[in-house]
Amino acid sequence: KMREEKGGKIFIKDEDVVSKKIQNLIDGGVDSFQVISDFDRTLSRASYNGEKCTTCHGILESSIVFNEETQKDLAALKKRFYAIEIDPTMTIEEKCPYMVEWWETAHKIMIKSKVKRTSIQQAVTESNVILKDNCKEMFQILNQNSVPLLIFSAGIADVLMEVLYQKSSFLPNIKVVSNFMKFDENGVLVGFEGELIHVYNKNEGALTDSAYWYFEDIKHRHNICLLGDSMGDLHMADGVPDVNTCLKIGYLNEKVEHLLPRYIDAWDIVLVDDPTMDVANVLFAAIT
Ligand code: C5P
Repeated sequence: KMREEKGGKIFIKDEDVVSKKIQNLIDGGVDSFQVISDFDRTLSRASYNGEKCTTCHGILESSIVFNEETQKDLAALKKRFYAIEIDPTMTIEEKCPYMVEWWETAHKIMIKSKVKRTSIQQAVTESNVILKDNCKEMFQILNQNSVPLLIFSAGIADVLMEVLYQKSSFLPNIKVVSNFMKFDENGVLVGFEGELIHVYNKNEGALTDSAYWYFEDIKHRHNICLLGDSMGDLHMADGVPDVNTCLKIGYLNEKVEHLLPRYIDAWDIVLVDDPTMDVANVLFAAIT
């Protein structure tokens, strides 16, 4: 059914493996199930009406928080480093130092520009960030069935949460692991909490104490659905002990021609340019 609906934009390397995994998730039932998802370009849309949608960092970086010159500097950074992030000819190891440089430089500029906590709300309102179609429904299905949803993002936690507040809601089953901003008593940005999370270190090494306890609390949930758009997202479940079944759904939005074979190899199901959460929702409806 999904194949018909998605019109050739759904790719599965091994139908048998995927069928078995789905059957395991259904048999395991709702009490054994958890979801781990990336945010930017996975829960949020990569583009809308031919225009690229912004990321959590982008929401701030292109907002009135920064003067024109700083916005230009940040845009130039993004142009240079995003090309590296999605470069099909480089290995993840080769990309990592560049990603650290990108995130650290952008964060330093934010701190130097004295970003205010109160600016986040306006920046989100004025941005073109959009959650994927039926993302809200996905949050609801999971929450109604008390299925934990970990949003593991290399974006900015405070911005991501504001997007959820404005575009959907922040439900009790949701836990966010991301880069949390640190503000002084006047609400001015002075740094970021803990270790930097960038797009290629989203594994157990990036988990904070609170994430450790989160996994400890749900350690009886051995079945996972992992949602992501980057090869780095494949490691988001590395911190989960005793995994029984992990079904990986990859959303491919960029350099499709070059990256598709690699994505088909690494992910159980690949969805090309999918602006919806439909495939995940069909699966979740079957499990719950
Ligand atoms: O939620 P997710 O882990 O996908 O968020 C990380 C994304 O944020 C990266 O894919 C990267 O392209 C983007 N980014 C950005 N501007 C920065 C740093 C990262 O748009 N300064």
